[in-house]
Amino acid sequence: MRTDVPQPIRLSDYAPPAFLIDEVHLTFLLAPNATRVKATLSVRRNGDHGDPLKFNGERLTFISAAIDGQTLGADAYVVDDEWLTIANAPDAFTLETEVEIDPEGNKALEGLYMSGGRFCTQCEAEGFRKITYWPDRPDVLSRYTVRIEADRAFHHLLSNGNLMESGELAGGRHYAVWNDPFPKPCYLFALVAGELDVLEDSLVTMSGRTVALKIYVDPGMADRAAYAMDSLKRAMKWDEEVFSAEYDLDLFMIVAVRDFNFGAMENKGLNIFNSSLLLADPATATDADYERIESVVAHEYFHNWTGDRITCRDWFQLCLKEGLTVFRDQSFSADMRGEAVQRIKDVKALRARQFAEDQGPLAHPVRPSSYLKIDNFYTATIYEKGAEVIRMLKTLLGAETFRAGMELYFERWDGHATTVEEFIRCFADASAQDLSAFFAWYEQAGTPTVTLDSHYNGTAKTLTLDLTQSTPATPGQPNKKPLPVPVTVGLLDQDGRTLAFARDGQAADETVVVLDQAKTRVTLTGVDRPPVISALRRFSAPVMLKTDAEPKDLYVLLAGDPDLFNRWEAGQTLARALILSRAAGHPDDVGEERYAEAIGRGLDDQAAEPAFKALMLAAPSEGDLALATPAADPKAIRAAREALRQRLALHLGDNLKRLHLGLQELGDFSADAQAAGRRALRNACLDLLAANPSSEVAELALGHYRAAGNMTDSMGGLSALMQIGGQPFEDALDDFYARWKDEPLVVDKWFAIQARDPSEGALGRVLGLTAHPAFDLKIPNRMRALISTFANFNPARFHDETGAGYRFLADQILAVDGFNPMTAARLVDALGSWRRYRPALGDLMRAELQRVHDTPGISKNVFELASRALAN
Ligand code: TRP
Ligand code: ZN
Repeated sequence: MRTDVPQPIRLSDYAPPAFLIDEVHLTFLLAPNATRVKATLSVRRNGDHGDPLKFNGERLTFISAAIDGQTLGADAYVVDDEWLTIANAPDAFTLETEVEIDPEGNKALEGLYMSGGRFCTQCEAEGFRKITYWPDRPDVLSRYTVRIEADRAFHHLLSNGNLMESGELAGGRHYAVWNDPFPKPCYLFALVAGELDVLEDSLVTMSGRTVALKIYVDPGMADRAAYAMDSLKRAMKWDEEVFSAEYDLDLFMIVAVRDFNFGAMENKGLNIFNSSLLLADPATATDADYERIESVVAHEYFHNWTGDRITCRDWFQLCLKEGLTVFRDQSFSADMRGEAVQRIKDVKALRARQFAEDQGPLAHPVRPSSYLKIDNFYTATIYEKGAEVIRMLKTLLGAETFRAGMELYFERWDGHATTVEEFIRCFADASAQDLSAFFAWYEQAGTPTVTLDSHYNGTAKTLTLDLTQSTPATPGQPNKKPLPVPVTVGLLDQDGRTLAFARDGQAADETVVVLDQAKTRVTLTGVDRPPVISALRRFSAPVMLKTDAEPKDLYVLLAGDPDLFNRWEAGQTLARALILSRAAGHPDDVGEERYAEAIGRGLDDQAAEPAFKALMLAAPSEGDLALATPAADPKAIRAAREALRQRLALHLGDNLKRLHLGLQELGDFSADAQAAGRRALRNACLDLLAANPSSEVAELALGHYRAAGNMTDSMGGLSALMQIGGQPFEDALDDFYARWKDEPLVVDKWFAIQARDPSEGALGRVLGLTAHPAFDLKIPNRMRALISTFANFNPARFHDETGAGYRFLADQILAVDGFNPMTAARLVDALGSWRRYRPALGDLMRAELQRVHDTPGISKNVFELASRALAN
């Protein structure tokens, strides 16, 4: 048991930094096991307090410190595991420090570490303190000059900003000096050194400056950076057009590394990416990979303004950069790939991750007020719900005022670290509106439920909408207040035609009702025929909507709502009800038939895009269904979901086979959205057919796998074979491994697909795979491919009645926590949701969570999540 209970950090305790650093010169003498870091800082006291100087420093071997050239004697400073303290520091002075660090031994992948024989860094949120002594907080902004010295074998020496100088040194070494003219917080510092190939391009910005673009990758991989480069250029142009945001340095670099805790990092002028989110070619990457690469390249680039030029005052303001930047990358992707399809995918992800978080023990506001480890707060709530809040702001203010608010924000806060309050103030000023009620979206956790009741008066031709809202209690927030919820509404008649109406005398096809009290009543007039209501179009607010709509209304929406999001949503709502009713022992055969027919008509719709149809074909995920059930039983859910899929396969079989054949790719591969949409639909057809396997379908799946000319189709075939099971699947797995064993990103896919195997023996296979020679717990991508995939995407097998799945996960959490706490903590959630499952399972989950919690020496990261999940 832990005795030293870690103390939380609170927003209310914020105090400005005691010392500021205007300039810093860093010198790195790189060596894998013993790197020397010399720092020369111009420090000045911030205000007239007499506090001692206290700089963060962890895992540093102290060599020396000097003030204004005078080496400090042992009585002038104190060094412990977390701090360098200097009691009597002058008001303005030069501090020189020298430390030694061990990048090779750093398996936490924070600070300076080695990946694939190269040096690289990850400093957000608190990694810079593992490089040198520093006030490691985002509101200390400094200008950096960085000198890197290394053996010539480390061919490229990179850091932020512009290259000032480089050359040879004695003893087979060389050096480079970089200067970043933009003051930045230390979490945006980056350094990379090693042998790399580079893909180069350039772009002329809106003001006519030429920017050199360089993407650095593993030797031999430069061709695979082409799509990332193309995405980068499109993102740069898009930001100029949509937000008047121009790039500011003469050089923009991206480096891909294999060993990385998250997706990617926006270091100023030197983004560092997990190679899985950068490298792509048709043979090794799926369309989903291409899509993520496009969005993450854009995301990190967009941070140049929303994150780097304007940063966060403290880590409680994380959504200021993350929610806003996700909103920006989602808007970009919508423009690149189609609004409706993008919105559906974003909402699916929001519900799967953020709604789940809101219903669990870790529910927290978009701007939390306390934490133990900030690493644990890079959550779906900060990112995805943070983006929804910005989207609502845009809906409420209108596109033009929203843009004016953004431009005011860029102008007012450029070069500063600021807060969410100041961000919202820009929109209040730009719109001359009081946004104080809106601010509650940042402070209140939980997903509101909005209920819509309607009454149509055929004589008066009026439609009365009664909207109410309530938000359930979340940990630490028992009482909730009403939030301003924008509900976008349109009407259809019973034949599915758009039905016009008037609101406050204004004719409209669509209107935004703002529900800003516990209850609101709105009356629409001029409603000539009995309406079907299409509410919360485009998912206008991150809420759960309950309506009095009957299945017949949902079928009208499914057939023809001009809002494609709601068309898809109607199908999901129908499917969810059918599956859950079957899982509860009340199958509705007639309803399932009717649903299958309606989906069939949707497939025949010539006007609909293939990508949209592919989404229509997919049943709600097992995770989505579990969220909608109290005391969830993952096996029963899976069985009921499969039953519906089987009925669809039976009912639509010929249609699915015809489409599968007709969509076969002829000609060259294209990664664009249209071609990807056709592949998505073709694979969705196969996936559904596999739910009702015959020998004909098994042949089809095998043929699909064998004929695949790209990774999307290979994986589609493999996944269909997996559903069918048996020897053909085993043979395909062996074939796949033999073919791709030298491609780490593809081997990750090989591990991941086995982790998703729904068949009886899957848990045993996953256990066995941890001993596979290619498995390595220390490589986050590989670890996640097997372990996170199993725990999060194979509910029927993870929730094994014996508890063996839980025991397996707990063991892995403890093993990873021994060297990489940040990544270990991300595994805890799969056990932390124990209250949502039927008690026989929930109790076993809780017991494993308790075992993790009680293990001596676990990290603060894992301790925080385990103890919150166990709390009453
Ligand atoms: N700021 C990064 C982003 O763009 C994510 C990030 C935060 C991160 N902390 C990290 C990446 C640690 C890698 C490691 O969203
Ligand atoms: Zn980000």
